[in-house]
Amino acid sequence: MKAVVYSRYGSPEVLALADIDTPIPKADEVLVKVHAVSLNASDWEVLRGKPLYSRINGPFRPRHRVLGSDIAGRVEATGPQATLFQPGDEVFADILSHMGGFAEYVCVPQGVLARMPSGMTFEQAAALPQAGAIALQGIRTRGLAKPGEQVLINGAGGGSGMYAVQLAKLLGAEVTGVDNAEKLEFMRSMGADHVIDYRREDFTRNGRTYDVILDLAAYRPVSAYSRALAPGGRYLYVGGSVATLFGVLLRGPLMGRRAGKRIRLLPVALGVKHLAPIIELCQEGRITTVIDRRYRLDEVPEALRYLGEGHAKGKVVITVT
Ligand SMILES: NC(=O)c1ccc[n+]([C@@H]2O[C@H](COP(=O)([O-])OP(=O)(O)OC[C@H]3O[C@@H](n4cnc5c(N)ncnc54)[C@H](OP(=O)(O)O)[C@@H]3O)[C@@H](O)[C@H]2O)c1
Repeated sequence: MKAVVYSRYGSPEVLALADIDTPIPKADEVLVKVHAVSLNASDWEVLRGKPLYSRINGPFRPRHRVLGSDIAGRVEATGPQATLFQPGDEVFADILSHMGGFAEYVCVPQGVLARMPSGMTFEQAAALPQAGAIALQGIRTRGLAKPGEQVLINGAGGGSGMYAVQLAKLLGAEVTGVDNAEKLEFMRSMGADHVIDYRREDFTRNGRTYDVILDLAAYRPVSAYSRALAPGGRYLYVGGSVATLFGVLLRGPLMGRRAGKRIRLLPVALGVKHLAPIIELCQEGRITTVIDRRYRLDEVPEALRYLGEGHAKGKVVITVT
């Protein structure tokens, strides 16, 4: 089968389209013919080995030869103990801990697979897992955004931001989206009431405060986030620099408590089983998935560059079949 492989951290040039053996499903695994796989910032990070936390499973060399985690496709074959799915079933999954989605076929433990939600295309289902889980937990389950509250989403023009802005609006919040200038119009089109170009304005220094800050691109000291939080406000670190991550973990709880605020890491519970509420909203047409660009499997390096250089508005999807 064809797959996009790499063996050392680096820029998209280290990726190559190769012919490798089609995997054989073992025990409770299911062989899925990949129809669509969406890109996430985590693919870009694990490709380059930056930030450092992306090397947690492979300090010197990538642990997985094939990247790609949010897949949708059709069951091709099942392992001897896999009884939940039949060949032909349409399925989707988040396989961040296994990877392998940038390929024509991938083996997936049956426990992480789910049937495709009705009414969704393979591309829409592939767009949802990681970005949908981050948005749902960041805004609703852990962010606890309420009607009338001020919600700021830093990095709102990307995949998770696209869902997070729409969710916060549905919950009745007043939403500020922060991203680069290219994405301001896109954030408005998702429903953001206010938009900020992060290269021109520092939202932690504009005198405004927020009840919820969902930070998809955290690069500031914790004191800056504390300043930007309203009394009782919640700050959630999702991704960004290791320095900020340590600041949030080590200083966040105490600094927050002193000021009557909560400053924490959001360890996102990944997996499609957590997505039911957002799937429903997508099926009802209350949340839209915007697929900015589609690429072929051999174009994965170009697609990752487009995402990594910050042009993607919403999701980028590889259409494999
Ligand atoms: N905590 C967890 O358990 C967990 C789980 C999975 C993933 N993650 C993390 O979640 C993060 C978000 O993923 P995603 O898929 O939504 O990423 P994405 O689609 O790449 O979106 C991130 C957005 O942030 C923007 N950005 C970059 N630097 C910024 C800054 N200084 N200020 C404001 N915006 C900035 C980017 O634009 P430009 O770069 O073009 O300017 C981009 O539009 C990733 O870092 C990933 O590692 C965390």
